[in-house]
Amino acid sequence: MKGKNGSARREYVVGIDLGTTNTCVAWVDDSVPTVIPNKGGYKTTPSMVAMSESGKRLVGHIAKRQAITNAQNTVYAAKRLIGRKWDSPAARAVQQSCPYVIVEGPHGDVRARLREQVYSIPEVSAFILQEMKLIAEQYLSVQVDRAVITVPAYFNDNQRQATKDAGRIAGLEVIRIINEPTAAALAYGFGKDLERKVAIYDLGGGTFDVSILDIGHGVFEVISTAGDTFLGGEDFDIRVMDWLIQSFHEKTGVDVRDDRMALQRIKDAAEKARCELSIARETLIDLPFLYTTPTTETLHLQETLSRAQLEELTRDLVDRTISICERTLSEANIDRGDLDDVILVGGMTRMPLVQQRVAEFFGLEPCKGVHPDEVVALGAAIQASALLDESQDILLLDVTPHSLGIMIVGGYFHKLIEQNTTVPTSASHVFTTVRDNQTSVKILVLQGESDQAMDNELLGEFILSGLRKAARGQVEVEVTFSISADGIVSVSAKDLETGREQSIKVTATSGLTEDELQRLVEQSQSYMVEVRTSEEFERRRQQAERLIAEVRALLPTVKGIMSGTSFGRDAIAKAEAALDRAQTEMSATDLRGLTEVTESLERTLNMFRGVVSKTGLT
Ligand SMILES: Nc1ncnc2c1ncn2[C@@H]1O[C@H](COP(=O)(O)OP(=O)(O)OP(=O)(O)O)[C@@H](O)[C@H]1O
Ligand SMILES: [Mg+2]
Repeated sequence: MKGKNGSARREYVVGIDLGTTNTCVAWVDDSVPTVIPNKGGYKTTPSMVAMSESGKRLVGHIAKRQAITNAQNTVYAAKRLIGRKWDSPAARAVQQSCPYVIVEGPHGDVRARLREQVYSIPEVSAFILQEMKLIAEQYLSVQVDRAVITVPAYFNDNQRQATKDAGRIAGLEVIRIINEPTAAALAYGFGKDLERKVAIYDLGGGTFDVSILDIGHGVFEVISTAGDTFLGGEDFDIRVMDWLIQSFHEKTGVDVRDDRMALQRIKDAAEKARCELSIARETLIDLPFLYTTPTTETLHLQETLSRAQLEELTRDLVDRTISICERTLSEANIDRGDLDDVILVGGMTRMPLVQQRVAEFFGLEPCKGVHPDEVVALGAAIQASALLDESQDILLLDVTPHSLGIMIVGGYFHKLIEQNTTVPTSASHVFTTVRDNQTSVKILVLQGESDQAMDNELLGEFILSGLRKAARGQVEVEVTFSISADGIVSVSAKDLETGREQSIKVTATSGLTEDELQRLVEQSQSYMVEVRTSEEFERRRQQAERLIAEVRALLPTVKGIMSGTSFGRDAIAKAEAALDRAQTEMSATDLRGLTEVTESLERTLNMFRGVVSKTGLT
């Protein structure tokens, strides 16, 4: 259903917020930006990919539901790894805290292992994007081939390029990559004739961004942006997990870190407790049968966590976001008092400490009018529709988050484009040879702010050869950098004497080669045929039937195990309630209701299986 220019058929293009924790897809329906719900009726889909024991690929809610029992083969927060190198601190941190296995890829990149198969990170992200494409296609009843995808404003070129590759593997033409805070601003200002200076504070599951924008009657101009692509809810979870693991260790002498299932249960409980503490002042973290010792003693974890304790554990993380806000304001030469509004984006901004610190810092009550989970996807959809229909009165002027340059003699970094320059942009500079009879030059392309070249992110390198032999300083080479509206970099070098030119795709040092990409694109197309034929409702009903049978079969055993302990009484009551509700939903036709009951049955079953396996009974 490709509506080429001039065709009367309507072309559909969606906006996708590919999040660390949740992914959301939206479109513009008759001038109204609208989120597209998934098959279960949810407006966001967990960014999780798993491989089941039978080799079936699971994405979204279905992957999340089995994460505890299949922790080693469930990848979450892949966005923290996209476009990163194996030897980066980010890869080390993920390796230490995540139950899934990552390995070094052939290009010094990071790959994830799911059962016997190793996948590149763009491929894992592509599975999520493919699911979003499907959700949109089922909802709109047309094929969707094009999308605008959002990335954290502070993503560098490698991360942007890898995200674009993910889109391509998923069978999507990524017509534009836009920055998440900018997308949020677009959704905030869309259709209103505003003239305001605003700050967007976006703290999500994995990344933090802050952008300052000038919005004036349809023109959205980013003045400056800053962030940290490794700071988000995941880090808050790790703090709570560490605290739980330590107190469990103090009480029992057991370190649970090597037990992947226990670790995943703790992670789940930590996140749940954090979210509860956004409303309650205190919460109980209760993990019965968490660990079985070699002498088959069963250990339970039970802790009370207060909001004040959580704030103490994570205060420095919130402080880090505030210093980044400070930095970006000073870089933009903007006074806090000049801002008219501060907009909170991302699930983490529901945390009261975050809201309080942001309000204090900006001296403004954050704007309540935007939905923190949906606003980025809505903005992406608005941009997508504006790109299709040039008559729309929207102009987006974004900036590059990092300076761009090359390494020069002495190991220094020479900037050609400064950070916060409006994109698209390009810049040229003429360099000379440094040795007599030097016939080639090597250009190292870097992105970052340090004066020392190698402290910055290496984007790629190339050699321009065949220069005329001459005394040092005699041969001139002109280097031109360009940054597209996507924030993606290209570089060329020209021997000014001969006119010889060489250009590079600067992603040469990480990610996937063109051949690999091509193969993955083909593979995923054949997979699409397979998934599209599924009948969701019937599948769910059968799944619910199977789950009811399994939970019923285990119920007497679990009741028996739990009867001697104070733990789990609640769990039995919940299981019985879930069974009752499932019976009712089975005869209804509401997919959402059925999805909810299968989810709660899955959780019950996971819990039951955990209890039974821990106590060694089958
Ligand atoms: N009520 C709540 N209180 C505290 N934290 C919450 C709450 N609801 C969600 N979160 C946290 O918000 C995070 C997810 O936010 P969001 O969905 O905006 O992230 P994302 O878009 O997937 O990630 P990113 O933008 O960083 O790539 C999770 O860490 C989650 O625990
Ligand atoms: Mg987000």
